[in-house]
Amino acid sequence: MSTAFRLEPWPYPRWIAHRGAGKLAPENTLAAFRVGAAHGYRMFECDAKLSGDGVPFLLHDATLERTTSARGQAAEWTWAELSRLDAGGWHSRSYAGEPPPTLEAVVRFVLRNGHALNIEIKPSPGAEALTGQAVAEHCRRWWSATPGAVPPLLTSFKPAALRAARAAAPELPRGLLLDHWWEGWWDEAQALDCSAVVAHFGMLDAAAVEGLRAAGMRCLAYTVNDACEADRLLQAGVDGLITDAVDRFAPGEGLLD
Ligand code: G3P
Ligand code: CA
Repeated sequence: MSTAFRLEPWPYPRWIAHRGAGKLAPENTLAAFRVGAAHGYRMFECDAKLSGDGVPFLLHDATLERTTSARGQAAEWTWAELSRLDAGGWHSRSYAGEPPPTLEAVVRFVLRNGHALNIEIKPSPGAEALTGQAVAEHCRRWWSATPGAVPPLLTSFKPAALRAARAAAPELPRGLLLDHWWEGWWDEAQALDCSAVVAHFGMLDAAAVEGLRAAGMRCLAYTVNDACEADRLLQAGVDGLITDAVDRFAPGEGLLD
């Protein structure tokens, strides 16, 4: 007889705005979150790492040059230094001067507006456990001050980061991010007590989604910007889609086009 797993209730919207509002505004800035919210999105994905002095803030890359006015390793800068950078000018003139936000500032925006948040723990190299622990400890404190708020979904490609997050705040839901089905991913997801797997959209079909759900895990897809792919994934039964195309996909209403 097969073991039946219970699928826990899932309090998150199906559509999630990637890096705030994907590409319409500078990724991982508060301006991007505001653009995503203006398009009706109620859940956001973002990338969090630590400054050199341990402040969680939003940045995708380990280095600064692609999305800020500076160069070099982000982990070598203090928060006081990072906070003075321009994280918007690279995108377009109208966003010039937009600062990189702390994770705390983004969480404040999300909680004040009743939104949900998927925090991707994106450690600088070598800081996997430290970043997972710090993000989880801060989240526990911020969310316990807001009773009733939907908890953050903590995800990472790095099992060590999720392990540390689990040790620091086991009550916060976790999701293992996968860009391919590497050997041992299933055991890792189970050992981390993950509520979800968040996979590259090209990896997923109905069988994969059903397999995860049968094991008690939700299945989310990233980064879905194509209408045909979105349709295919919805048919396959995914629980969430992370998208840059906030101006093309209406959250809660299926496809605009
Ligand atoms: O969290 C889903 C997605 O954001 C993972 O890829 O490179 O965009 O952080 P990336
Ligand atoms: Ca991400």
